[in-house]
Amino acid sequence: MRMYDLIMKKRNGNALSEKEIEFMVEGYTKGEIPDYQMSAMTMAIFFQGMNEQETLALTMAMAHSGDMLDLSGINGIKVDKHSTGGVGDKTSLALTPMVAALGVPVAKMSGRGLGHTGGTIDKLESFIGFSTAITEKQFKDNVNSIGISIMGQTADLAPADKKLYALRDVTATVDNMSLIASSIMSKKLAAGADAIVLDVKTGSGAFMKAEEDAFELAKEMVKIGHGAGRKTSAVISDMDEPLGFAVGNALEVKEAIDTLKGKGPKDFVELCLTLGSYMVVAAQKAQSIEEARGMLEKVIEDGSALDKLAAFIEAQGGDKEMVYHPEKLPLASMIEEIPSPVEGYIKHIECDEIGICSLILGGGRETKESEIDLSVGLVLKKKVGDFVKKGETLAVIHANDSEKLRSATERFLGAYTFSEELVAKKKLIKGIVTQ
Ligand code: URA
Repeated sequence: MRMYDLIMKKRNGNALSEKEIEFMVEGYTKGEIPDYQMSAMTMAIFFQGMNEQETLALTMAMAHSGDMLDLSGINGIKVDKHSTGGVGDKTSLALTPMVAALGVPVAKMSGRGLGHTGGTIDKLESFIGFSTAITEKQFKDNVNSIGISIMGQTADLAPADKKLYALRDVTATVDNMSLIASSIMSKKLAAGADAIVLDVKTGSGAFMKAEEDAFELAKEMVKIGHGAGRKTSAVISDMDEPLGFAVGNALEVKEAIDTLKGKGPKDFVELCLTLGSYMVVAAQKAQSIEEARGMLEKVIEDGSALDKLAAFIEAQGGDKEMVYHPEKLPLASMIEEIPSPVEGYIKHIECDEIGICSLILGGGRETKESEIDLSVGLVLKKKVGDFVKKGETLAVIHANDSEKLRSATERFLGAYTFSEELVAKKKLIKGIVTQ
């Protein structure tokens, strides 16, 4: 087999066989196929597309290019959740203890933030002493004993995707549905769960700006999941404004804790209940989505989800008292209100700009090596559809540097658009794809 012939085949619009895709992925991972040939191939895929069988074969080949985590030693049906990423997306922090409190084993690999979106691991490090640098054995033991563990992604999880993603990033071939879907799903399949619930975001703060693209991506990923024998469903949710009110590591942790105490923002609670219901049903702990929802509401009401978060934090070296006393979480030295420059309804929030404000304050990384400031960020007081008077607070900004505070405030005000006319509130759940 020659890579040259495969490039020609795809360039001419023909489908590649499973064997050909395996040859290509294996050769590329080992360095036997050079970047320039793989670039030609990704560009050919970009223009000619891939059919369902090819997309599944690419996903499976990338998933098997490194370690495949074996979770069979963990009792019960393991359900993973994945979000395509967004601003203020602290879902895993509240959702995982909620489902774990119902006996759904949570064995999750999470990442750090890069760019304008945050990462679960950074947020969790707001708890003093907490670490995700645990061994695979400790990870599995913790899931069996307390029902939940989160670890950092191992270096050898789907290495073919890691290499291919970096190549796509510099060859203008990221935004192809088959390539995106196979990239995300290869990592999920390698992470070993029996079932997967996907949260596909759409809007100005999301990877998929257009709703129809988000639906297409969701369908593609659900098909791959089923093709790989994993029960998979996808919730398409709004990211045209930040999720909840808090944006920034420790501020988001506090909001997740408030949520587990029954005092969470409406949209965030709704997303947790929706995703959680699909997870609980996939884990066969409830017969229907409605039943699962009721069970999830109950673990918030009776405090068992909050206790589960505390047990999880303690098991990974963190200070569990911070769960019950979130005032002990990192706090910035400057806390200032941003007044509205006009009176009117909030028409639009340029969502990724809000993520960038948090980055400017020091809450995200400019490079992989950057240290992040866990205490900084913003708490929104007004979202799309809300009415605001001139001078009324739009958001509260948490900073540790006056120059960064000034610059983030300016950027924040540029992200808001106002209207004299009534503006409808955003619909959070756009749809659900199960097949
Ligand atoms: N996220 C991924 O992991 N892969 C893509 O291709 C796009 C987003």
